[in-house]
Amino acid sequence: MLVGECGVARVEADGKGTTIDARTLWWQDGVLYQAYPRSFMDATGDGVGDLPGIIERLEHLAWLGVDGVWLNPITPSPNADWGYDVSDYTDVDPELGTLQDLDRLVTEAARRGIRILLDLVPNHTSDRHPWFVDSRSSRTSAHRDWYVWADPKPDGSPPNNWLSVFGGPAWTVDEPTGQYYLHNFLPEQPDLNWWKEDVRDAFDAILRFWFDRGVAGFRIDVAHAIVKDQALRDNLPATEDDHPRIRDLGQRQVYNMHRPEVHDVLRRWRRIADAYDPQRILVGETWELDVSKLPAYYGASEDELHLAFNFPFATQPFQTEPLRQIVEETEAQIGLRGWPVWTASNHDIGRLATRWCGGDERRIRAALMLLLTLRGTPFLYAGDEIGLPDAILERGQLRDPVGIRHWPTNPGRDGCRTPMPWTEGPGAGFTRSDAEPWLPIVRPAGGAVETQRNDPASVLSLARSLIALRRERPDLSRGPYRALPSPPGTWLFGRGARTMVLLALGDRGARVDLPHGGTVVGATDPERIGARADGPTAIRAWEGLIVAT
Ligand code: NOJ
Repeated sequence: MLVGECGVARVEADGKGTTIDARTLWWQDGVLYQAYPRSFMDATGDGVGDLPGIIERLEHLAWLGVDGVWLNPITPSPNADWGYDVSDYTDVDPELGTLQDLDRLVTEAARRGIRILLDLVPNHTSDRHPWFVDSRSSRTSAHRDWYVWADPKPDGSPPNNWLSVFGGPAWTVDEPTGQYYLHNFLPEQPDLNWWKEDVRDAFDAILRFWFDRGVAGFRIDVAHAIVKDQALRDNLPATEDDHPRIRDLGQRQVYNMHRPEVHDVLRRWRRIADAYDPQRILVGETWELDVSKLPAYYGASEDELHLAFNFPFATQPFQTEPLRQIVEETEAQIGLRGWPVWTASNHDIGRLATRWCGGDERRIRAALMLLLTLRGTPFLYAGDEIGLPDAILERGQLRDPVGIRHWPTNPGRDGCRTPMPWTEGPGAGFTRSDAEPWLPIVRPAGGAVETQRNDPASVLSLARSLIALRRERPDLSRGPYRALPSPPGTWLFGRGARTMVLLALGDRGARVDLPHGGTVVGATDPERIGARADGPTAIRAWEGLIVAT
């Protein structure tokens, strides 16, 4: 790993195209941002966000200071699972734009120093993908074994006990050919057979297709689950000692996911990325419940993923102790072998403003400070920067198959997929004022982007200033994490030699003895910026300070 070989950390646009400094490991120094294309900006006025819309809003992203944007799937899809059921891996869904729009987005983003990452969905295709249409057409079709097919048990039941993430058995019988096919998600999302060399070759070509168009990398959907046990063995029953999520499911998913064989595929993709340049990256959706499982995804010789999402962190309660524990465990586990990732929101788990903060602005500010001061790459989800909450939707407003299937016990994921509110007027600057947005628009307490942009005390201004501070102070991007003693409920850590971060993620404040004095260079309460912090320093409940010497 090239940590420490820090080149020029920022990009100068020269108006002629990409001028990004090749020496910089931008994905370590930078801040990444997830945009859900259908909900970011609608340029065509049909109520659905699109690529031209993202281009229109690049100015916001450049102003905010982000370095890369991960787009949820933009490839053609029948939308059984909103893009995660791909029917063509090398085109753009007409509802979202064209390949030319994508090219223009890559170029326009680069001019502003921003790189574009796409979502790669290799675990499964749409059931309407020509590969699956052919696969199910007969037992002897050319693509039959591109998917996972198996005979029923003698009583006609599914071949084994694997369960779908979205509920029910992971198998659906195909009556005409008399076999079951595997789907770890919806029946409309048949799992590919990654034991088949042709599947691997096909994906090599897909990666190259997009890399050739200039994308900076991929977020890899269900990166922990692509390869299945070849013998299709039954998953093991859950025990009382298992994580609550495993107990709820009733089984340990040891054969339909989390297989060691996935690492061959990740190494293969890393070789492809590296053959372009060291700035192309692979980010895995590595849904592991235990931080100790993450190092493997970076590879024994840093030859797999560049970044692996840390769900144990994201799923902790927003309190000092559990978060400090996970952060320090992460540091211990992957600190020197890989580069951590910090995120607290996405289009599946919900938005930090609601999930972690219950809509409380003090907490939202502290959450942003935590994400943007830890050692590693922060990912913000569109809306985090304005404290956008999850929407509470009526049954009739749902679009997510999970919510539609499991309402009301599980309302699904639409609440965290609502459109970005850019302005206060009708359509929120997201769509035309007379258009019906594909999901209802909600606004945060502090107002839409335009309102917060003009308020130096807004959540948006805080997010922007924290991103700027990270860029100005290499301690905050590169400096080692150092645990420092502080009273219960507070969290004091050093970054590099000259920067300290003090947080109180809880209902109690305290006086904290700083090991050395300094100046407050960042604060959740802007009034504290510029103050001297020496010796015992008061921190209020849900407050954060960055002190530099
Ligand atoms: C993870 C994606 O983030 C989620 O939205 C999707 O439903 C599943 N993978 C299946 O692709």
